[in-house]
Amino acid sequence: MILFECVSFRYNQNNKTSFALKEVSFELPKGEVIGVIGSNGSGKSTVAKIASGLLKPTSGRILVDGANITEYRISPNQNNSVKLIAGIIFQNPDNQIVGTTVEEDLAFGLENLQVSNSQMHVKIDGISKRFGLVDLLKRPVHELSGGQKQMLCIAGIMVMEPSWLIFDEPTAHLDPWSRRDFWLYVKEVCKERNVGIIVISQLPGDLEEFDRILVFNNGELVFNDKSSSYNRPDFEAVL
Ligand SMILES: Nc1ncnc2c1ncn2[C@@H]1O[C@H](COP(=O)(O)OP(=O)(O)O)[C@@H](O)[C@H]1O
Ligand SMILES: [Mg+2]
Repeated sequence: MILFECVSFRYNQNNKTSFALKEVSFELPKGEVIGVIGSNGSGKSTVAKIASGLLKPTSGRILVDGANITEYRISPNQNNSVKLIAGIIFQNPDNQIVGTTVEEDLAFGLENLQVSNSQMHVKIDGISKRFGLVDLLKRPVHELSGGQKQMLCIAGIMVMEPSWLIFDEPTAHLDPWSRRDFWLYVKEVCKERNVGIIVISQLPGDLEEFDRILVFNNGELVFNDKSSSYNRPDFEAVL
């Protein structure tokens, strides 16, 4: 469960008026695909970065599966290793890919989690099979297509086995076929692996994929309910 308790955030600490988020509270269950929508600048990416521990809130508290993400984004495991709590995937894969080759990129996050070499091989082997990257492992990342880069980003986060996946406008640059693949994948992961999924999207076509919808307007949460209760005309003005 992701819990936001009266979370406020401003980028510029000196400017007391410019809150990117204003006293946002919500509780999100696992097992649903949660959509976050709202116009440009409404605070969606800020919520994503706070939930994944990249930004610390100016005030308020965030718990992800009981862990206080305001203090750390990776938590200790039973076996002395560390675990990523919530992984975030950005719209533009080029900003996220760090390795020179596909294999290096997949190894990067695991190295940060201090996974042993032997474990790393097992994990990279498994994830590259799942994402159709086996034949690309030695390939320089700049030779990948846009869709392949997107899949590499998702694989690079999934290989760390986070409890939550947060996608910030993942489908914006995808062609219709890759978008369909993306959604098939998301549904599968959500059902089979008990991973919580949050997807930020501005695309009307993605609306029907969400089980629950959060609507942001000007840093405030203005709707949080099952998507069956969402009535688009009510929010036309803020989207
Ligand atoms: N790095 C930043 N520095 C200063 N202000 C920012 C920064 N990133 C976002 N903002 C501001 O915070 C508000 C929320 O932005 P953001 O969360 O990116 O919105 P969204 O993802 O919904 O477009 C906007 O007013 C935006 O201009
Ligand atoms: Mg954004």
